Amino acid sequence: MSAKPQCVKLNDGHFIPALGFGTYKPEEGPAFGSQQPYGGLQPSIIPILLIHHGLLRALLARDAQIYMVPENKPLEAIHLALEAGFRHIDTAYVYQTENHVGQAIRSKIAAGLVKREDIFVTTKLWCTFHRPEMVRSNLELSLKNLQLDYVDLYIMHYPVQMKPGEDLFPVDEHGKALLDTVDICATWEAMEKCKDAGLVKSIGVSNFNSRQLEKILSKPGLKYKPVCNQVECHLYLNQSKLLNYCKSKDIVLVAYCALGSQRPKRWVDPSSPVLLNDPVLCDMAKKHKRSPAQIALRYHLQRGIVVLAQSYKENEIKENIQVFEFELPLEDMKILDSLDRNLRYAPAPLMERATQNTPFLMNFNVETCVIPSTHSVNVSMDSDVCDTSDADSTNVISPHLSCLTTLLQPELGPLV
Ligand SMILES: NC(=O)c1ccc[n+]([C@@H]2O[C@H](COP(=O)([O-])OP(=O)(O)OC[C@H]3O[C@@H](n4cnc5c(N)ncnc54)[C@H](OP(=O)(O)O)[C@@H]3O)[C@@H](O)[C@H]2O)c1
Repeated sequence: MSAKPQCVKLNDGHFIPALGFGTYKPEEGPAFGSQQPYGGLQPSIIPILLIHHGLLRALLARDAQIYMVPENKPLEAIHLALEAGFRHIDTAYVYQTENHVGQAIRSKIAAGLVKREDIFVTTKLWCTFHRPEMVRSNLELSLKNLQLDYVDLYIMHYPVQMKPGEDLFPVDEHGKALLDTVDICATWEAMEKCKDAGLVKSIGVSNFNSRQLEKILSKPGLKYKPVCNQVECHLYLNQSKLLNYCKSKDIVLVAYCALGSQRPKRWVDPSSPVLLNDPVLCDMAKKHKRSPAQIALRYHLQRGIVVLAQSYKENEIKENIQVFEFELPLEDMKILDSLDRNLRYAPAPLMERATQNTPFLMNFNVETCVIPSTHSVNVSMDSDVCDTSDADSTNVISPHLSCLTTLLQPELGPLV
């Protein structure tokens, strides 16, 4: 077999490298479940402080300084990834790593290592930019950060609409998230226009359930289908039903947290099982003389999934690109299938809404999705509406700011 990195054909004719490099860097915050998220303030005092929004921001900024990660870590890692052979880089407006991605690509082009057309860059539309007239402006901000003329793939980060404005996580004076009312199909039409304008090669979605995908696919006058759906997917949450659904619609499933996530303290329960320590996975790795990470990535590739892997360590980055050198036999694939336990490392924001009787319900085609040590949510295929068009314009989704930041910011640090 060829050890050359493979590509997968998208439904619009473009190709996506089957292995991508993730650039999300969580800013560490208070530990999971901490009762003292903001400088030890009692939760009951927080709403009062929230009246003085500036003070809240100052407090959050103080926490951010305490937990800030080294600024250049992502940049160094992207350099290493490009040197190791990664040609697919995943970023997002909200990660604040787009500038690093652009800088690393420009430097490797200048060094003669790659040409722009060799690199597949994904970035994502943030939830405060879902109004159709704002979609292109968010993309243009990303292109400016990246200093690129186009991105290869632009995806809707979440099927969640939040109030437009400077705040990426807008809250009211009680610390409750401010949502917006936008028809997901109207946002999609604006995404289609970005493709027509040549600013993006392909358009897709992320964190969508099958019903939300269905809504776009059945939209009257649909010009372009989503090429992909990027979702949490790993050995403990193998998304087999959603994968089958996506395959039936010629939509590529892109797996994130495939190595079990970076386990940031603010949203991953430290007592949840560490994916790469799984005994069955480790035994199989020994048998194949590979690492557990390589087996975990290879498993997805053989299921026709595009997989993302993140690391800051040179040896791991080099190891992760070597997943095209071997193949797992069918019996081992079946053993790995059996490890699924519907365990979600990254609590999806819509999961919270599902518990709060709002018009949203996340359905990842799993019947019960276990969020370690928090709550489990029973989800049924047919029990919900799944867009925001009939939601109140300022729905309240979470009573405490700490809860909001945990659940609405699975990929982010403090609100600064
Ligand atoms: N669309 C979305 O909503 C969404 C959500 C989450 C993530 N994503 C994307 O998906 C990407 C990947 O997900 P992720 O960042 O959550 O994490 P991940 O790829 O599941 O895991 C990264 C962790 O695995 C470790 N690791 C990597 N290679 C390893 C190896 N060979 N051996 C042992 N450990 C290894 C890393 O450790 P070290 O610390 O040692 O390097 C790091 O802590 C993100 O960066 C982001 O681009 C998208």
